[in-house]
Amino acid sequence: MTVHFIGAGPGAADLITLRGRDLIASCPVCLYAGSLVPEALLQHCPKGARIINTASMSLDEIMAEIQSAHDAGHDIARLHSGDLSVWSAMGEQLRRLRALDIPYDVTPGVPAFAAASAALGAELTLPGVAQSLILTRTSGRASSMPDGETLENFAKTGATLAIHLSVHVLEEVISRLTPHYGGDCPVAIVWRATWPDQRVVKATLETLEDATGGERGRTALILVGRAIGAEEFDESCLYAGDYDRRYRPVGTDPRFPEGTE
Ligand SMILES: C[S@@+](CC[C@H](N)C(=O)[O-])C[C@H]1O[C@@H](n2cnc3c(N)ncnc32)[C@H](O)[C@@H]1O
Repeated sequence: MTVHFIGAGPGAADLITLRGRDLIASCPVCLYAGSLVPEALLQHCPKGARIINTASMSLDEIMAEIQSAHDAGHDIARLHSGDLSVWSAMGEQLRRLRALDIPYDVTPGVPAFAAASAALGAELTLPGVAQSLILTRTSGRASSMPDGETLENFAKTGATLAIHLSVHVLEEVISRLTPHYGGDCPVAIVWRATWPDQRVVKATLETLEDATGGERGRTALILVGRAIGAEEFDESCLYAGDYDRRYRPVGTDPRFPEGTE
């Protein structure tokens, strides 16, 4: 018996991996984090599966479900939105599973930041503009931020920021970032990326508040940085005609002659 943690993707039901889909289809029990996991994914569950929305359950109640499936020898599909590596509450479940000696594995999913940048048609790491992407959030009721992890500290790097769980404090985000990025810095908000009601607003830090028309919603990603929508950036060396590389040797004395590993 294994608990399969599966990244359910950002919203669209076809943005799950084939492995994730097949695991759902193979498990007689499915626990899903209801608020952001699309119900359409549950169609992959086998007939008669026990399907439980864990949105209103405590960790103890979730573990009790897992323990009883384990006792019955049933595999479990455990679905969380996006990918499991960020803000999934998987860590605390895995710790309990290790203590109980219950086996588990993890299947990655498409994270919200990737879905949001796809909606924008944007590369977030443009040569000469930004080469780092910081996935972050602001303090919430359930989690405070560690001391050094402030928006101001991240902003000092000039990297692209993907700010989660923070659209309800948009004004605060804008006022904390503007001194570092400048009011003319491009910014975008993507609400419910890949869901049928996806919405995108592109603006600058200065114009963002007006551009949203007051909409805040709950599920949105704020992307900030000079890479968003930039047209002025270097081309990467990777495809440059004179760049000698392993898969495209160039010149009379290539660095990686054919046949070398
Ligand atoms: C609890 S976190 C889950 C993050 C998820 N594990 C991931 O890989 O992206 C929820 C936050 O992620 C962002 N988010 C999740 N799904 C989203 C979507 N479809 N569109 C925009 N933002 C989304 C929002 O900031 C939301 O408040």
